[in-house]
Amino acid sequence: MKRSVTRRTFIQGTGAALMGIAAVPATGLSAVDLVGQPNKLALHGGTPVRGQPYPSTWPIIDKTEEEALLGAVRSRNWCCLRGHCVYDFEKTFASAMGAKRAVFSNGGTTALGASLQCLGVGAGDEVITTPHTFIATINVITNLHALPVYVDIDPDTGSINANLVEAAITENTRAILPVHLAGFPVDIRKIMAVADKHKIPVVEDACQSVFAEVDGKKVGTFGATGCISFQEWKSLVSGEGEALLCSDEELIRRCAGFVNNGRDPKGEKSGYPFPGSNHRMTEFQAAVLTAQYAKFLQHDALRQKHGRYLEETLAKMPGLSLRKRYNPKTRFTYVQFEVDYDPKAFKDVPAAIFAKALQAEGIPFSGGPRAYSGGCHKEGMLQEHLDSRGFIKAFGKSRLDQYRASLKLPVMDGLEPAKKQFLSMESKIPFLGPEKDIEDIVAAFQKVAANIDALRSA
Ligand SMILES: Cc1ncc(COP(=O)(O)O)c(C=O)c1O
Repeated sequence: MKRSVTRRTFIQGTGAALMGIAAVPATGLSAVDLVGQPNKLALHGGTPVRGQPYPSTWPIIDKTEEEALLGAVRSRNWCCLRGHCVYDFEKTFASAMGAKRAVFSNGGTTALGASLQCLGVGAGDEVITTPHTFIATINVITNLHALPVYVDIDPDTGSINANLVEAAITENTRAILPVHLAGFPVDIRKIMAVADKHKIPVVEDACQSVFAEVDGKKVGTFGATGCISFQEWKSLVSGEGEALLCSDEELIRRCAGFVNNGRDPKGEKSGYPFPGSNHRMTEFQAAVLTAQYAKFLQHDALRQKHGRYLEETLAKMPGLSLRKRYNPKTRFTYVQFEVDYDPKAFKDVPAAIFAKALQAEGIPFSGGPRAYSGGCHKEGMLQEHLDSRGFIKAFGKSRLDQYRASLKLPVMDGLEPAKKQFLSMESKIPFLGPEKDIEDIVAAFQKVAANIDALRSA
């Protein structure tokens, strides 16, 4: 039994299925399968589109990583100050990213903290950022005894709402720290325009978004600095590690010095002229990272191919549409795949139920309203900082009381009803397989859509 489907048969089949015509599902199965039973949803006891789970092993390795690591071990130059792996790959990566320089260290958190500190952020300052991020983005602000000033998020994307940034600027604002989450660029053009107008530096947290682009320019290269994480769950990995991207000579000097105990990377100033600490990446990490890079380039190309195809194909189904982009020339990295879902086109079946049916077909999507809750502004660590002696000294009690009262973010707090629903899949690994793996997704969408009445009555 042939279970594959061509792109053309799906596109032709989709419209018919949604018009309620007994379509031929993309799996190659007819609506009545070979044993004469209706091609039931797997949720209701039918045969799933996909019997095999998607691969989940990560990172993907072969002999190359082992040999690279062994080479670094045998070199006996384990520290980057004597080896070449860190500094060589810094050059390769900076050039690929379109930055003058990449400064590697032990993690994205370090890169963000180094950026802020080298830009002069300190006690009593404010940094504008988003509540919808990993806590590392906020830790680096509060650890400098600076206040994270939260701007609410755009309900359609979960990214910082660039339209609200300007209103958050005060005389104490020293930096803006937007976060490109899961390979989806924020509205960086708008943020840069506001930042430039007020002469406030931007530090881009692009830790999750290596190779995402806006207008052909990589995210992480718009701001004064941009930070990319190589931590194990990202898409270019060395266990831990980061690249701090920068194109300003003096800032590069400070940042490179910062991660190397404050030494002058140019060697012009003797001793330890800059603030710093030891955050150096080891040669072992850089050896593995360099070996992973070749794979990353292949993976990135596959994700582009599969992600774009899936997005364009699904968006042809009535009721599914591309998620919002801030710029027509946006390059997502498809480590997370999302489409918007309009329940009206699916007889009011909510996205969560549609996703449940997909899961039963062996397709690991989740879904629901684009609604939010939680957020870093609610974390206990923030309260601890606000109550600390250092913060009270830096800001004064009344400013901190006013700050506490301002921690209300209607969208992030889930106080505004969600306007959109969505379907989403973590696609970093599934998109690396053969085309058949993607066609299974298409087939499952088509099957669930064709059986929407059964879901409605379930
Ligand atoms: C948005 C974001 N910022 C910062 C970091 C910190 O990066 P690292 O784990 O390399 O320190 C992460 C890591 O997951 C992240 O997702």
